[in-house]
Amino acid sequence: MTLEGLTGFPRVALAHRPTPLEPMPNLSQAVGVEGLFVKRDDCTGLAMGGNKVRQLEFYLGEAIARSASVVLITGAVQSNYARCTAAAAAKLGLRCVIQLEDRVRGMPSEYQRSGNVLLDRLFGAEIHTYPEGEDESGADRSLDSLAEELTAQGECPYVIHLSPDHPPLGALGYVEAAGELLEQASDKNIDFRSVVVASGSAQTHAGLLVGLHAQGRGDIQVHGVCVRRRAEAQGARVLQCAQAVEQLLDLRGLVGPGDVRVTDRHLGAGYGQSTRESEEAIRMAARREGLLADPVYTGKALAGMLSLARSGAFEGRPAIFMHTGGTPALFAYGSLADRDSPGSLRR
Ligand SMILES: Cc1ncc(COP(=O)(O)O)c(C=O)c1O
Repeated sequence: MTLEGLTGFPRVALAHRPTPLEPMPNLSQAVGVEGLFVKRDDCTGLAMGGNKVRQLEFYLGEAIARSASVVLITGAVQSNYARCTAAAAAKLGLRCVIQLEDRVRGMPSEYQRSGNVLLDRLFGAEIHTYPEGEDESGADRSLDSLAEELTAQGECPYVIHLSPDHPPLGALGYVEAAGELLEQASDKNIDFRSVVVASGSAQTHAGLLVGLHAQGRGDIQVHGVCVRRRAEAQGARVLQCAQAVEQLLDLRGLVGPGDVRVTDRHLGAGYGQSTRESEEAIRMAARREGLLADPVYTGKALAGMLSLARSGAFEGRPAIFMHTGGTPALFAYGSLADRDSPGSLRR
C-alpha cells in the first residue's frame, strides 16, 4: 500500500524491500505468550542494514535533487546513521563528512575504533569530532559551520540535521514501512495490535504512527522504548515529530497525544549504556532465535517488548518487534561478552 503523498518527494533507492516478517516462536514461548513476530529492518541491505537506510532514501533524494557534492551528518561515536550515510554517499558518488559526538563516556578503546567507526572509515568518510553528547543544536551548528567551510571550498553541501527543528524527511520511510507491514501481516493472517520500536530521534516511531493512522489503523498501539531521553521528553518529541510528518504529507490531526506510548524503563543510565535486562534480551534473542540485537537500541527495545509480553499488555494478540538494526555496534561493546554478570552476553 503506498500513500499518495509520498510520491512527491525526491528519493533514491537504497533499501531492500519488503524486509521479512518472521515469527519468533522460541522467544514467545520463553515469555509465555503466543504470536511475537519480528519485522526484519535489520535486513534493509545497505552496509549491514537498519532503519536509517529507509530514512536516508528521502534525505539523499533531496541531496541529489539539490545537486549536492558532499553530505554531512552528526551522531554518537557508534552511530548507525553515520555508517549508513557513509555507505550511501559512497554508492551515490558523494563525499561524506561525519561528526562524532562524545555521548558515551568511559568506554574502552574498541568503542572508538571498532563496529560502526571501522565501517565509517572503510566507506571513506571524513571524521570530525564534537566534544558534547547532549547538545543537539550545538552539534547541528557545528555541522553547519563545517558546511560553510566546504561551500567556501567550492563544494555543494547537504546537511542532515539532528535537532527536531528540521523537516523529518526520514520519517517518511516509516510512513511507507507501516503500509508494508500491514500488507505483509494481512497476507500472513497476522492480526497484530501492537508494535514495539526503539525511540531515539523519534522519526521511526512517528513515521509508523502516522503511517498506521493514515491507513485507518490507529487502533494498533506503537510502543516506543526510550533509548536517549526520559519518557516525558520523548513523548513530546514523538508527538512533535508526528505532527511535522503530517504537515509534510498535507495531512492533519491524525495522531494525538493519546496515541503516543513511550516507556523509559529500559533506558538505564542513559544513551549507549546497556542494562542488565537489555543484555539478557540480547542473549535470549541470540540463543533462542539466532537473532542479533545491539546494546544501544534494539537490545533495549527487545527488553521492552519482552516485559510488555510478560505483563499481558498484548492481550493475547500478535505483536511485532520492529528490528531497527544496529548490529555493528555489538563489536564495539565486545567487552559485554566478558562481563561476568548474571545478564552477561557470555552466559
Ligand atoms: C539501530 C537503531 N535503532 C533505532 C534507532 C532510533 O531510530 P529513530 O532515531 O528514528 O528514533 C536508531 C537511531 O539511530 C538506530 O541506529
